[in-house]
Amino acid sequence: MPVKIRQVGPCFAGEVTGIDMTKPITPEEAAAIHAGMDEYAVLVFRDQHITAEQQLAFTESLGELEHAIGTSLRKDDELRLPTVFADVSNLDKDNKPLARDDRRRLFAIGNRLWHSDSSFKVTPAKYSLLYGITIPSKGGNTEFADMRAAYDALDEETKQACEGLVCEHSQIYSRQQAGFFDFTDEERARFKPVLQTLIRTHPSTGRKSLYLSSHAGGIVGWPVPEARIFLRDLNEHATQRKFVYSHKWRVGDLVIWDNRRTMHRARPFPAHEPRDVRRTTLKGEGPTVAQQAA
Ligand SMILES: [Fe+2]
Repeated sequence: MPVKIRQVGPCFAGEVTGIDMTKPITPEEAAAIHAGMDEYAVLVFRDQHITAEQQLAFTESLGELEHAIGTSLRKDDELRLPTVFADVSNLDKDNKPLARDDRRRLFAIGNRLWHSDSSFKVTPAKYSLLYGITIPSKGGNTEFADMRAAYDALDEETKQACEGLVCEHSQIYSRQQAGFFDFTDEERARFKPVLQTLIRTHPSTGRKSLYLSSHAGGIVGWPVPEARIFLRDLNEHATQRKFVYSHKWRVGDLVIWDNRRTMHRARPFPAHEPRDVRRTTLKGEGPTVAQQAA
């Protein structure tokens, strides 16, 4: 079946048909997906009933895998999934929802703030691929915001003000915004800030976009309050409803997004219900700013 893409909602989200992830994809299919990702920035694949291994194989046919090592508060013996997956479920090792006041959950719900995956890594993520296994009875949408359109819509003065700026990203900053300050010395060292440019140019399309994320907590050379307020204003601009696609999950959905030019956030759902979603991630092409590897 040929690969087809039709727009869903705003112009940066498309729904793909003609791909069956239970089988290896052909080089032509991989090329069609990459071209689709260049044209859109979010692609939705419905009714994919795949195993963890099949998700992994599909992901690896699109690029180099990013591992999720040391990015959450789960200890090694508490991991539910191997580190080739980012476990963004609300479940413990025994597949039970984490208690409402569990510190691993309170850290993880920082994902409900607008962010770009792994912007806290020296080499941030390219694509994220999220697969829906168990979906709560209500809520739990993932919302995406188009950072190209947001950049284009800035006035000239603000574009000039953003040019050349470098931000400091850390999961400590995003969690502080949610009132989570309870880090151990080991975690503070592990979540040391990294540098990212505020404007990115897409390697395939040459289009500029804002590179925002709740992980951004400072701008190099700026006083902290001024930086945070400047970033807050940009975030407010960039997440206006006209730039947003809200994905309502169905079991068997796999959604791919380009972290280099979108932000996303999870929406709330009943805490006692399981939400089992499994993410694989592709590594970006390199750091956005030259810096020492973390
Ligand atoms: Fe995320």
